[in-house]
Amino acid sequence: MDNTQSDALVFFGATGDLAYKQIFPSRQRLAKRGKLIGPVIGVAKAGWGLDQFKARAQDSVEKHGGADPEGLPKLLAALRYVDGDYNDPATFQQVRQHLGTAKHPLHYLAIPPFLFGKVIDQLKASGCADGGRVVVEKPFGHDRASAHALTAEIDRVFDEDHIFRIDHYLGKNSVQNMIFFRFANSFLEPIWKREYVESVQITMSEKFGVQGRGAFYDGVGAIRDVVQNHLLQVVSNIAMEPPPCTDVEALRDERMKVLKSVQTVDKEDVILGQFKGYLDEPGVKPGSTVETFAALQLYINSWRWRDVPFFIRTGKSLPVTATEVVAKLRQTPPVFSEDVPPQNYVRFRLSPVPMIAIGGSVKEAGDRLRGCMVELEAEQQCGTDELLPYEELLEDAMRGRQTWFARKDYVEAAWRILDPLLADKPEVHTYDPGSWGPADADKLTKDFGGWSNPV
Ligand code: BG6
Repeated sequence: MDNTQSDALVFFGATGDLAYKQIFPSRQRLAKRGKLIGPVIGVAKAGWGLDQFKARAQDSVEKHGGADPEGLPKLLAALRYVDGDYNDPATFQQVRQHLGTAKHPLHYLAIPPFLFGKVIDQLKASGCADGGRVVVEKPFGHDRASAHALTAEIDRVFDEDHIFRIDHYLGKNSVQNMIFFRFANSFLEPIWKREYVESVQITMSEKFGVQGRGAFYDGVGAIRDVVQNHLLQVVSNIAMEPPPCTDVEALRDERMKVLKSVQTVDKEDVILGQFKGYLDEPGVKPGSTVETFAALQLYINSWRWRDVPFFIRTGKSLPVTATEVVAKLRQTPPVFSEDVPPQNYVRFRLSPVPMIAIGGSVKEAGDRLRGCMVELEAEQQCGTDELLPYEELLEDAMRGRQTWFARKDYVEAAWRILDPLLADKPEVHTYDPGSWGPADADKLTKDFGGWSNPV
């Protein structure tokens, strides 16, 4: 592992949505903490100059968390801007000039994957790739074969140690904590298996629609946008075995092993939906059948999880914005009467406010020996160093730390699971904005107590 500190940051797609919503705010925080080393060079083809670019950075941080009196001036002072075409070697010569004496630039590709190969080759030809690293955004490819081909394109110039496939879910403290909580508490691990867990549900619900990203979203849909990456990462964290040592690869191996044991998903296992009004979104193709909702079940054929269904549900324009994992534990037999006590569960709320809760059964007040459900909730966070996901991941990439990035075999294994479905999707049902998606989605969980809806 090469832990040399990167001494410049070049980002392609610098005038885009991701830079605006996530990357500038994270960089401002890195700048404040003194972790933004060297120039920050934005590259795009927007006909802009440096002043316009700086104004965009300022606007971005003001709208996303607020301008910081220490961080913002540092960030603005570090900014450089190159306006040019990715096909034109002159664009990369300018980047080279701005790099100055930097020897280990980090190149961030916030651009559509079809441009990766072109940019990578130009980075090499211009000398910008020398001693450098590259960060690539998700989705990495659109199926297994294209992910493999993309890796081959990037491999020509950067080796795997220097390629960082970003998935910002892995930068969330609540997602990392799932692994920590499981293995740091002796009370959970003994029951975290098929003998005790009846089913697992993961819901990533978003109250908003596609927020002006219609052109991007219509090219991917819910499965490629969040299931293949964010939600399978969550599955890996729930289901993995404890790593044998603290080595970075040991952890990544365990997460990879989970995906290897997941059965492929096909159209019988899935309900897809599209919210009414999606077709009117700017950038969406007329008559598009792209899904904005997906509910599916998958099985992990490991010793620990065989026959336990994992239900995944995600959608835009649902009733709330929240991501939760609920593991339902097997029902106990009736205790004192014929009334079966409510089923226990463990709930990880990953966002917006992280929480861990355990659902238990206590005796109802009164003269009957009957159970009612109570929830033991832990909402407090310890530590004061809460980092934004992109902030943590950018800092990690600049230090060469791969722990929370996806390895090439992991990404391909994730596509393997979904490829049959993506090649042959079921019919897409429409649903009302503000509802929990198509009614048919309820059929998936009907034998397992129904969906557990976050509130
Ligand atoms: C992105 C998806 O990767 O993750 C978006 O492209 C989605 O469609 C977003 O809204 C959700 O991330 P978070 O961190 O807000 O839950």
